Amino acid sequence: MNIPDNDMLHSFYASYSERVERVKEVMKRPLTYAEKVLYAHLYDAAELKPYRRGVDYVNFRPDRVAMQDATAQMALLQFMNAGKEQVAVPASVHCDHLIMAELGAGHDLSKARSSNREVYDFLKSVSRKYHIGFWGPGAGIIHQVVLENYAFPGGMMVGTDSHTPNAGGMGMVAVGVGGADAVDVLTGQPWELKMPRLIGVRLTGKLSGWASPKDVILHILGLLTVKGGTNAILEYFGEGAKSVSTTGKATICNMGAELGATCSLFPYDDNTDEYLCKTGREEIAAMARRNARHLSADAAVYADPEKYYDEVLEVELSKIEPHLNGPFTPDAATPISQMKAKGPANDYPMKVEVGLIGSCTNSSYQDMSRAASVVRQAIEKNIPVKAELIVNPGSEQIRYTAERDCILSDFEKVGATVMANACGPCIGQWKRHTDDNQRKNAIVTSFNRNFRRRADGNPNTYAFIGSPELTVALAIAGRLDFNPATDGLLDRDGNTVFLDEPSGLTFPPKGFAVGDKGFIAPAEGQQDIEVAIDPSSERLQKLEPFEAWNGEALEDMPVLIKVQGKCTTDHISMAGPWLKYRGHLQNISDNLLMGAVNAFNGETDYVKDQLDATYKKVSTVAKDYKAHGIGSVVVAEENYGEGSSREHAAMEPRYLNVKVVLAKSFARIHETNLKKQGMLALTFADKADYDKVQEDDKVSVLGLEHFAPNEQLVITLRHADGTVDRFKANHTYNELQIEWFKAGSALNYSKNNR
Ligand code: F3S
Repeated sequence: MNIPDNDMLHSFYASYSERVERVKEVMKRPLTYAEKVLYAHLYDAAELKPYRRGVDYVNFRPDRVAMQDATAQMALLQFMNAGKEQVAVPASVHCDHLIMAELGAGHDLSKARSSNREVYDFLKSVSRKYHIGFWGPGAGIIHQVVLENYAFPGGMMVGTDSHTPNAGGMGMVAVGVGGADAVDVLTGQPWELKMPRLIGVRLTGKLSGWASPKDVILHILGLLTVKGGTNAILEYFGEGAKSVSTTGKATICNMGAELGATCSLFPYDDNTDEYLCKTGREEIAAMARRNARHLSADAAVYADPEKYYDEVLEVELSKIEPHLNGPFTPDAATPISQMKAKGPANDYPMKVEVGLIGSCTNSSYQDMSRAASVVRQAIEKNIPVKAELIVNPGSEQIRYTAERDCILSDFEKVGATVMANACGPCIGQWKRHTDDNQRKNAIVTSFNRNFRRRADGNPNTYAFIGSPELTVALAIAGRLDFNPATDGLLDRDGNTVFLDEPSGLTFPPKGFAVGDKGFIAPAEGQQDIEVAIDPSSERLQKLEPFEAWNGEALEDMPVLIKVQGKCTTDHISMAGPWLKYRGHLQNISDNLLMGAVNAFNGETDYVKDQLDATYKKVSTVAKDYKAHGIGSVVVAEENYGEGSSREHAAMEPRYLNVKVVLAKSFARIHETNLKKQGMLALTFADKADYDKVQEDDKVSVLGLEHFAPNEQLVITLRHADGTVDRFKANHTYNELQIEWFKAGSALNYSKNNR
């Protein structure tokens, strides 16, 4: 089997140190680890020169691509239009998002296999045709599988999922991108990224007690907020970093996505070496060992970090307390000892109804084993478990090993349901059976996101994020404000008992084991495979290229919606039940912006159609405008498009003839996705101008005939009373991105210029 592409790795490590040495010669200074990896992956070595962080766009050549099933459909539909015989770099597809968690792994998997058959068959045949590794349903969650099989120190990868940076735990620059970016890499073209700023994070001390790596990132989220990492790489270092396991580091890097960071990464250390060896990659471990000198920053950087990073954050691990972040946003950081006061003060529902363990963030063997050590205490100390417990193992290798080591049976002894090795409730694929959807209720998860409605679609669910061990403790106690370090619990005989600190093993003592990994390796010579798409399919639809810009001014466009408050990609293109249409642009466009709040009436999915002055669903109004040949505008607040990498959030408005998104600010991946799909992503030069936008306005964008980098555009609002407001808008388009806009999309542009 061709995991993990040893040929590519041999050639990578054969030249890696040499490439870094050349970078050092040109830069003439010590290098951070991120710089070593970034500069060693320039698309064209002739372009080696110092790039300005946060300013210059740079062309890179990533080593591999990973795609999950919900985003792979659109990515591969685009790849199929590129006319290539096979992918240019190693790539993999992971069937993890489309499995509904309901009754348990066996039932749910077989149901998913039949209900998603068409999509799985499509992904499998495209993978075979174009030389892509295929991980079938039940094989595991993309980021856990990548960490176990593909991630390697010093490497660079892109993935069509926002938590791709999980592989940073292994020292990879791993970046979440939209499908169009992935297609650039898959077709061997340069992949463009703005040279990120670098935030150094020095970890000192050691975690202890109930604190876990998850709490490190939950703490940092409280410090930096969901925008704090925008266009930045967080590079961890320090003695404390060495005390964290590779999977713990992956958890920290995973949730760097919640900071809006480009990615996060840890330098290579003994833990990296051990993880590679324990997961059967001794050969790669040996190659990495030989390159170890350049798999971390230069010593001078660590000695004087302020000089080399744009910002340095100090985190003392021994002071970190278990956190419970939420509800509704992952940066609402609360040390568990403060929940007793904060919960009632904010009117949180204090009863925990469900605890959910797993997800790409926290489903390693170490996570399972520490959580199981808490569950075992409930059994041994005769403590009733008050809340429902759900477990999603991260991969078949983890599940098989945890089953062999009686970890899963310990969970089952307290009534936990073991779901498939898949995303499940983390992406809204959860058929939750609850008595009353109107009641405010709390759930605790070891996931990474807690946006309203994300897990179960219920706006009344308050989701909080913690470590797996804290999640289990709170599920046992049935309360949000239970502090396992200080509070007692009543056993079944009415005695007060305490939980001991969790303990767990980083690696299984008998080694990892697995029966069928659920993997089909890429095969040679499969070009004759026919990838059929039924024209009457509801799930898959061939993509038609978007129209090029006709060169005319964008004038007098109605406001489709003025969004108020947070607007993540979940709000723009909801997941859950809509995941099934991820390969069908027309059908999925019916969910456009249905979760966004209309600033004019405070309602969701209820906006004014200016053609007949009635209120309808956002997609219905957009379709009406489109049918009349009218483009429209979306107006939004801060960090628009925060969250996932799903490009549907950009393709849907594009498909429904939205021409411009005018926001106070954008999340990085989404801004790029809008550009790639030929949209105008503009920001208010003065954020106060957001307040000038009225419901019946006609919006014009002036200056497009001279559209150029760093040149502002002008927006006019023609109000219903005949008055006009006029103000400036900023953009971050470079010359190439302006060409994408003119061509109608990046894909159109590259096809026209082949
Ligand atoms: Fe899956 Fe993403 Fe969650 S990969 S487990 S949905 S954060």
